Amino acid sequence: MLPNELLKIGSNFLKKKRINSYQIDSELILSKLIGEPREKFLLNFNSKLTSSQIFSFKKLILRRGIKKEPTAYLIKNKEFWSNDLKVEPGVLIPRPETELLVEKIILNIKISSPYILDIGTGSGCIIISLLQELRHSKGVAIDISKKALVLAKKNSKINNTYNRIKFYNRSFNEINNSKFDLIVSNPPYIAKHQMKNLQDDIKYFEPKVALDGGNDGLDVIRKVIYKSTKILKTNGLLALEIGNGQYKKVSQILKLNKFRVKFIVKDYQDNIRCILSSLKHY
Ligand SMILES: C[S@@+](CC[C@H](N)C(=O)[O-])C[C@H]1O[C@@H](n2cnc3c(N)ncnc32)[C@H](O)[C@@H]1O
Repeated sequence: MLPNELLKIGSNFLKKKRINSYQIDSELILSKLIGEPREKFLLNFNSKLTSSQIFSFKKLILRRGIKKEPTAYLIKNKEFWSNDLKVEPGVLIPRPETELLVEKIILNIKISSPYILDIGTGSGCIIISLLQELRHSKGVAIDISKKALVLAKKNSKINNTYNRIKFYNRSFNEINNSKFDLIVSNPPYIAKHQMKNLQDDIKYFEPKVALDGGNDGLDVIRKVIYKSTKILKTNGLLALEIGNGQYKKVSQILKLNKFRVKFIVKDYQDNIRCILSSLKHY
């Protein structure tokens, strides 16, 4: 069987199972099994697939379509900021909105080699991308999930930033006696009562500790902002990813803590999803 024929079977099946990303998911799964980038095998019409490739493809497509397992967990990687990051169950899959946060920071950070704190590093996607762009920077990555930290270390080794990051398995509450030029966080921000409304692939497979932001979704954000008043340098930048519809409340919390909003970032649906702010000077 040829790649295009198998892809058609896979994507038709996923479409029937109401997976919106049916085409790209089938391509990513096949690409992983063939060991070639999508762009390459899509043009390679004549290379026949082995029976073991066909069998493995169908098995993964069934897991995606029936159990709704996220594609990134099935193929064990996710592209973020042009890096191939390892991902695994227990650690949040990096999202495109978070790339917007990284981009905004890089475009607007004034300090040439900022000392960075990444709160809730997960796969390490944010700090790794930032350090790749800010070649002389160093940073600290923390997470209360041991699994996340192990994965973030692995990703930083693969992506050549390991020697510039210190990793700690701890909460931001425990960060004292250090001051940072840039504090960045994509914290858990889903309101508890909304957890049940998440899509099946998120609800049943991604870690709750990465999603659940307490009663109004702002428990962690609130505490991160307060903590930042203590550990951000005077001219430093606090960069946060927030949930859809949280801008008004988060900007009020920032104001109460003497932060001034400097930049916002909208996602592809025009919702404000990131805020960059700094402490007001008196
Ligand atoms: C939404 S995920 C973000 C992961 C990654 N930064 C990303 O953007 O893909 C939130 C992360 O915060 C971690 N986390 C939750 N509470 C925390 C706390 N009190 N201190 C440090 N990390 C925490 C979770 O384990 C999870 O990895």
